[in-house]
Amino acid sequence: MHKFFSLAALLLAASLLSGCGTQEQETTHDSNKAPQVKTESNADQKENRDSVGLEDTKSETSDNNVKQEDMNTKKTAEEPAKSTESKPVVISSTISKKTEEPKDVKPPAVKEQPKAKSPEVNKPVSTPVQKSSAHKEAGEKAIPIVGQPTAITVMVNKENKLPDGYVPGDLVYTTIPFIFQEKLEKKKMRKEASDAVSRLFTGAKADGIELLGVSAYRSYVTQTALFNAYVQKDGYEKARTYSAVPGTSEHQTGLSIDVTGGNGACPAESCFGNTKEAKWLEANASKYGFIIRYPNGKTSITGYKYEPWHLRYVGAAAAKEIMSRKITLEEYLDAVPVSH
Ligand code: DAL
Ligand code: ZN
Repeated sequence: MHKFFSLAALLLAASLLSGCGTQEQETTHDSNKAPQVKTESNADQKENRDSVGLEDTKSETSDNNVKQEDMNTKKTAEEPAKSTESKPVVISSTISKKTEEPKDVKPPAVKEQPKAKSPEVNKPVSTPVQKSSAHKEAGEKAIPIVGQPTAITVMVNKENKLPDGYVPGDLVYTTIPFIFQEKLEKKKMRKEASDAVSRLFTGAKADGIELLGVSAYRSYVTQTALFNAYVQKDGYEKARTYSAVPGTSEHQTGLSIDVTGGNGACPAESCFGNTKEAKWLEANASKYGFIIRYPNGKTSITGYKYEPWHLRYVGAAAAKEIMSRKITLEEYLDAVPVSH
């Protein structure tokens, strides 16, 4: 099995690499086209190749498209160190990292369950309760696995991964418009989140704000292909500043979606942060149960650059508290900040 998945991953990565840009490059706004390479010095880089759309059902067509994930190349304190190596991730039952990786990566540990502040919002749902089997290999770091992957407020990040093979059981195709027409995996979300995002889009429209979906659910296989493509282009360390190691992406929960404005400009790009659509989302997303998951200035906590386009459904109560207090999900759950 592993050989099969490894081969599949390599083939997918090879396919993706033929059409993806780098963190210094612009990608096409059309998620169904291969990103166009365009060097930018001051880059509002496009994030997401996020929009890799790979087939997860027979009814879908493959969209071997990579849209660059948060690739803001602006010189900020959050600027990633230059990559020195390339470490594609092979699909496996574990996610592990060699100990020669940067020292600021925290040692493996099963973290304590976050303390609940308000029982009514059911906060402690991200408890890592089991260690990855990668612990078997000496010298490697394993990422704790979340205990309740289906919980609406589950915290999946660089230090809390989803169980191997996790696929949400209630994925549905969203009914919102996307920047592409095809019925692809990345149009899916969990039912509750899908209903909520429909309401959000309707509410936005009522306020004169047009939104489009860019990329929602991504399977482990899709994230692996995507991440490997980034690693090939930017190196492992740089890639993980904007793209999640397979098994640690919120997109795999079916609770996240990347959006953009109705004109299709700045899809999953830093420039989206300056748009009226982004401002509307900042002010109104919580009413529909969504948060801006990777806020500006919170990289030290979330582990990722500012992603004004990445919405995460957590439910209205949690969302209102998180957005009104301008905190992250990690802070809301009293979880230890992730390392970079
Ligand atoms: N861009 C976000 C971090 C992801 O890859 O899930
Ligand atoms: Zn995203």
